[in-house]
Amino acid sequence: MNRMGILKQYREYLPVTRDTPALTLYEGNTPLVHLERLSEAWGVELFAKVEGFNPTGSFKDRGMVVAVAKAAEAGSRAVICASTGNTSASAAAYAARMGMRAVVVVPDGHIALGKLSQAVVYGAEVLAIQGNFDEGLKIVRRIADEQDVTLVNSVNPYRIEGQKTGAFEVCEQLGAAPDVLAIPVGNAGNITAYWKGFQEYRDRGRIDSLPLMRGFEAEGAAAIVRGEPIAQPETVATAIRIGNPASWESAVRAADESGGAIDSVTDAEILEAYRELTRLEGLFAEPASAASLAGVKKARREGKISTGAKVVAVLTGNGLKDPSTAMEAVPVKPLRLPNDFDAVAQAIREPRRA
Ligand code: F0G
Repeated sequence: MNRMGILKQYREYLPVTRDTPALTLYEGNTPLVHLERLSEAWGVELFAKVEGFNPTGSFKDRGMVVAVAKAAEAGSRAVICASTGNTSASAAAYAARMGMRAVVVVPDGHIALGKLSQAVVYGAEVLAIQGNFDEGLKIVRRIADEQDVTLVNSVNPYRIEGQKTGAFEVCEQLGAAPDVLAIPVGNAGNITAYWKGFQEYRDRGRIDSLPLMRGFEAEGAAAIVRGEPIAQPETVATAIRIGNPASWESAVRAADESGGAIDSVTDAEILEAYRELTRLEGLFAEPASAASLAGVKKARREGKISTGAKVVAVLTGNGLKDPSTAMEAVPVKPLRLPNDFDAVAQAIREPRRA
């Protein structure tokens, strides 16, 4: 595959017209990495779709490039979103590239530092509200109705169009659809997009079978699993700290139609998978991304994924997004030593073990 960006590479599958600007930051074409140790430990053939390789470090770039290009094509001069962090980073970057204004509404104190710094440095207007993502989304939806600004949350259908290309790539990289697609669920746009992508590839004869879709919410924010919105969602995986997913119905449809399910994983399970991924596979994804792996592990334990199944877990965002959680997740901290040869030599002779 070449790096040419989503709009060019998949133009026949996307709403691209002669007037759509050729916007790109070279998003997409991310690696599918075989996880050898975790495959062996869990008894499946496990792969990670590493979306942290995207230009702003998350899968959001696939959808944002389409949403921002189409906004510009329609004559819009500004975009707005609510975000737990990654959408705002991506909107800020593509708006900058397109020469548009970006306004992002984030939950004050509940957005990882890397993401906040991205929004700021790309020049977005950052509005940090004393409320959560769901409350922010309600506000920006109304503002997009009342003011001349384009909403670029995943309720914007162009976001889903772009994000479905992740499913295309998985099929191309495997040479077929996987048996199971494991994916974190927050606002539920991405599971919706992947299911749409797999179905389109099947309909166009590119693949024969469809995967079982297994989505995973964080337990403290598992509205779909519980069957009712959660007013005060809480989880260490701040990206998916969402209590009333906008794409609730289409997420349930993806799970049901595919023969999969939406389940939840605890923060402890998320952090365990997060550490295993880094230490055993050398891949650093953010906590929300690890929900997909934690989910695979849980589903295997419960016998819900068969032995030897080909499983793709979507690692939605780069681990560098959330350095604070990284430092807290591991008990062993950097060893502080005097500026002294013997002290360093001694520390190496007698390493500490986590
Ligand atoms: N993983 C990461 C790293 C995310 O940032 C998100 C969503 C998800 C998973 C869940 O995807 O919402 O399509 O179900 N982040 C949004 C944001 C809400 O504002 O960045 P989803």
